[in-house]
Amino acid sequence: MSDFSTNGAVARTNGSGTATLLETKPCVLELDHIGVRFGGVIGLDGVSLRVSEGEVCGLIGPNGAGKTTLFDVISGMRTPQDGSVTMDGVDVTGLSAAKRARRGIRRTFQRVQTFGWLSVEDNLLTALEWRGGGGGLAGDLLALPSRKRRERQRRERVDHVLGLCGLTGVRKSSAGSLPIGQARMVEFGRAIVETPRLLLLDEPTSGLEDVEVDRLAQSMRALLGEHECAVILVEHDMHFVMGECNPIVVLDQGRVLCSGSPEEIRTNEEVQTAYLGDVKGMHAAAAPTSEATNFSPTNNKEES
Ligand SMILES: Nc1ncnc2c1ncn2[C@@H]1O[C@H](COP(=O)(O)OP(=O)(O)O)[C@@H](O)[C@H]1O
Ligand SMILES: [Mg+2]
Repeated sequence: MSDFSTNGAVARTNGSGTATLLETKPCVLELDHIGVRFGGVIGLDGVSLRVSEGEVCGLIGPNGAGKTTLFDVISGMRTPQDGSVTMDGVDVTGLSAAKRARRGIRRTFQRVQTFGWLSVEDNLLTALEWRGGGGGLAGDLLALPSRKRRERQRRERVDHVLGLCGLTGVRKSSAGSLPIGQARMVEFGRAIVETPRLLLLDEPTSGLEDVEVDRLAQSMRALLGEHECAVILVEHDMHFVMGECNPIVVLDQGRVLCSGSPEEIRTNEEVQTAYLGDVKGMHAAAAPTSEATNFSPTNNKEES
């Protein structure tokens, strides 16, 4: 008997190969025929996809395929000329990035963006929304117990996330003084400290040591275990993508070339034809080694 998941529907095959639907996970994000043009340049062309609760969706494709543009559209930083973005059943196409953040969209960037002059701990605290504890200014002045309780809860949440991200030992260090791997984890921690509903990670393993990549994978799994959310990540490291993502969506020249499970992507002829030079890397990803394998034909992780 084996389990598989597609479009959030968790199904199980019995001995005779008949699939029975056990459970349907709610759809967190649905993109319907998204189109973006930059003057005459096509950024995205009719991109549709669905991501359900509990899924880590891997977005792969060569430089210029439209991955970052898609993240901009999902997070609300760019309004598409065509198509719609639906989150938890609500059309958010016209909503600002700030309003979408309120609905639980969090994002990390291709180039790490921490508040370098702040401590690691303060980087996380600033991302944790302060809703106060009631009582307004008077509550502040009188240091009401509800205020103290809220403040304690905030600090406990930050402590938990620092631990999850392996940052407890450097909590007092300024974020700007950290090596790239830890700086990326600060960005990751900042994105999850206020619980996400949909987490967007743009090349999260770029510049990370193997041990840090493992830590990131663990933190991501812990997040999905603790909260009802979904993750979409753009990544060139095929070991990471094949090991952590399902489904995987392949973008090429602004269109979805194909999508499916890691096995389906690995054996897809169109993908193999389009990325002949990387087929070796994709097969290598089936049997992980300590060496990172890059999907990009140019092996260039630093995109514009
Ligand atoms: N601000 C922009 N102005 C003009 N063209 C852009 C802009 N942003 C992206 N593009 C173009 O859109 C396409 C997709 O880019 P991008 O989303 O950055 O791809 P990826 O992240 O997959 O490398 C590319 O052809 C790129 O040159
Ligand atoms: Mg990009």
